[in-house]
Amino acid sequence: MRKLTTFHYVDIHSHILYGVDDGPDNIETSIEMMKIAYDEGIRKIVATPHYHPGKCTMGYEQLRRNFELFKEQMKDVCPEIELALGREIYYTSDILDDLEAQAHLTMEDSKYILIEYHPTVEYSYLRTSISNVMQMGYTPVIAHIERYMCVLEDWKLALELKNMGAVIQVNAGSVIGDSGSKVKKFIKRLLKEEIVDVIGTDAHSNGRRSPRIQECAKYICRKFDEDYAKALLRDNAERILKGEYLED
Ligand SMILES: [Fe+2]
Repeated sequence: MRKLTTFHYVDIHSHILYGVDDGPDNIETSIEMMKIAYDEGIRKIVATPHYHPGKCTMGYEQLRRNFELFKEQMKDVCPEIELALGREIYYTSDILDDLEAQAHLTMEDSKYILIEYHPTVEYSYLRTSISNVMQMGYTPVIAHIERYMCVLEDWKLALELKNMGAVIQVNAGSVIGDSGSKVKKFIKRLLKEEIVDVIGTDAHSNGRRSPRIQECAKYICRKFDEDYAKALLRDNAERILKGEYLED
């Protein structure tokens, strides 16, 4: 019999907020996503709308307004789930200027920033970008590291990035094989080597990309142990939101 997890989850990466990016475009879908998240055992969600220079750059004031309205609307739907606000930043060279100009691209009010890249990003570019944002005083959380071909081909590069000070995030669906067996095997290796820091759903909808996390939690409990699952699915996310350091 499968061991059931006995704790709740914090989803550090979610496109649940409607009308701001390629996530849901109406409140009904956001509500459906919220209900799925609740049933999955998620009790805190960080909305991380895309920030992509030239493509998706809703200003902070407007985003905060949308978020507060969303929070108000969700109070009646699912009062048990707490909501926080972050961004998922697509790294380009413009990002450094943007980070300097606006203080609100971080996860809540911390110094952690969630960064994504093109899947075919070159490793040297990835490494330099991590070093650049760290020099500015931010701690980069690399979104879904399993998506970058250069790292997927050589898991030790993920370790190198972690050793530089980056936080490593993987998607819950990828852990259990939704992105194929090669990716699943890659993540299993990262988990074995204790390279992964945090797991999020990266949910975009109430359909194929919905906020599912429970199967992933069960998988980690089964293959590793519950303490590891707690760290990856709850505790490290909490630390990030509080701006605390993650434990080695
Ligand atoms: Fe995302």
